Parts: sequence; C-alpha cells; structure tokens
Amino acid sequence: MTDETNTTGDREAFLMSYEDSCDRVPVLWIHGYPLSNLLWDFQIDGLADVCRLLTPDLRGHGGSEATEPPYSVGTFADDCADLLDHLGVTGPVVVAGLSMGGYIAFEFYRRYPERVAGMILAATRAGADSDEGKINRDKAAGVAIAEGVEVVVDGMLPKLLAPDNLVEQEDMVEFVREMMLATAEDGMVGALTAMRDRPDSTPLLAKIDVPVLIVHGEEDQLIPVSEAQSMQDAIPGSELVIVPAAGHLPNLEQPEVFNDAVRGYLEQFYEE
Ligand code: MLT
Repeated sequence: MTDETNTTGDREAFLMSYEDSCDRVPVLWIHGYPLSNLLWDFQIDGLADVCRLLTPDLRGHGGSEATEPPYSVGTFADDCADLLDHLGVTGPVVVAGLSMGGYIAFEFYRRYPERVAGMILAATRAGADSDEGKINRDKAAGVAIAEGVEVVVDGMLPKLLAPDNLVEQEDMVEFVREMMLATAEDGMVGALTAMRDRPDSTPLLAKIDVPVLIVHGEEDQLIPVSEAQSMQDAIPGSELVIVPAAGHLPNLEQPEVFNDAVRGYLEQFYEE
C-alpha cells in the first residue's frame, strides 16, 4: 500500500509505503539502514497468527518517497506515529527496531511513551556515534552523492551477514543487495545524518518500563554482541536472546530462532 500518511498539520506530506496484517497485538517493525520492509518477510510469514505486523518503509527507503535530507531519528519516529494515526491504531503497540530501527525505536519511546506497550531491540545499540563514527557517516554520504548508492551498498553488504551465510546463502545475499539498492540517494544521505546526529539513548535504558526483548546475532560484525549485553544489564527485566550463526540480520539469517523468541515474548500480551 502507498498512502499520504501526513495530510494534516505542518509537516511536509510525502507518499509512504507500508504493509499491514491481521488484528492481533500490533507490532510496528522498523527496518535498519539502508534496507526496507522486505526485511520482515519471514516475520510476516511466521508471526501473523500472533501479532498484527505493521511494516513501514522508512522515508527514502523501499517504496516510500524520499524528501530532501537531512533527516533525524525524530523525523522517522514522527513518520511512524503518523502511520499509526493514519491506520487508526490509537492504543499502544510493540515497537520492534533493527539496528537504525532500534535507534528510531528509542526516539519513538522518548516522544510517545504512551504509545509503546513493549520493545523488541534487534541488532542495535544504545550509544551515540563516536566522533570518528560521525566522520564516517559524512564520508559515506559523500560517496553516495559522488559515486552513487550502489558503491555504498557494495561496501556494506559483506558486513551485514555472518561470514558463512555470506558465502553459502547466495540467494539471501542477492535479496539483501536488491533491498539495499531500492534506497534513494536522498534516503541514504538522510538516514546517515539521522544516525550521525542521534542522541545517546544510554540514559533512557534504566527508565524503560515496558517489557523488552533484545535479540542479537552472535556473529554481528557491525554491532558487537557486547552492546546487546550492556543493554540487557541496563534495561530492568529485559530478556536477551543471542542467535547463533547469524550476523547483523538475525531475523533473516535465522528466522525460526528469531520468530520463536518473538512468539515467546508476545505471550505476555495475551495473558489474563
Ligand atoms: C543499520 O544496520 O541500520 C546501520 O548499519 C546501523 C549503523 O550504521 O549504525
């Protein structure tokens, strides 16, 4: 579906693409950079009986229109809130974010705590970028502008999957590459600015008072598993599942393990 989700107020309107399924606990699945909602195909297949899956393409990614950068994590969080409004989802939802989607989930929680019933934090971290990390965001944006999105994609792709999966799962590698190539240049630059300027969410962790599931690939080359362990230490009552034989995309690389963890986590939302 593609709709103009923000038709009121003073925020710039743009066409946002999304999928929506069933009438169970709503879970807002926020993809990472530079990906799209195709990231969640195995969750749509495997979890539609236990949750309503809302899977937007972020601004400038997949089928959603790009607007001129810069963007912020607040831009993306507000876009997600606009989508919920547009769909008439007024009650709290579980916010699930992978990597940059996790950075956005933290911002969504800061802005809309009353709209968050729970959080699933996959392959993400709480901290902000280091000074060197910020410089690298600007370098990547420069490459996207000067040489095109494909050059950035091909530099990043080998780090997204566990080393064995990269070699053995040719179809998966091609699927992820195609997904990344659907990112508009403005979307890529906008996401890089959003990640560069995102706040440190570490102080938020101890204040999160909804159930949290943390899932992390054991072989994540982009965000070390120690980041997930630190988040679990800081978020009261949170649960951590480390997924073997998975890199930065555990939901795609090991969908059954990932979906089992989510299924178990969601049970508490159906308890009397
Ligand atoms: C992502 O997967 O969303 C990004 O790689 C996260 C990041 O670069 O910090």
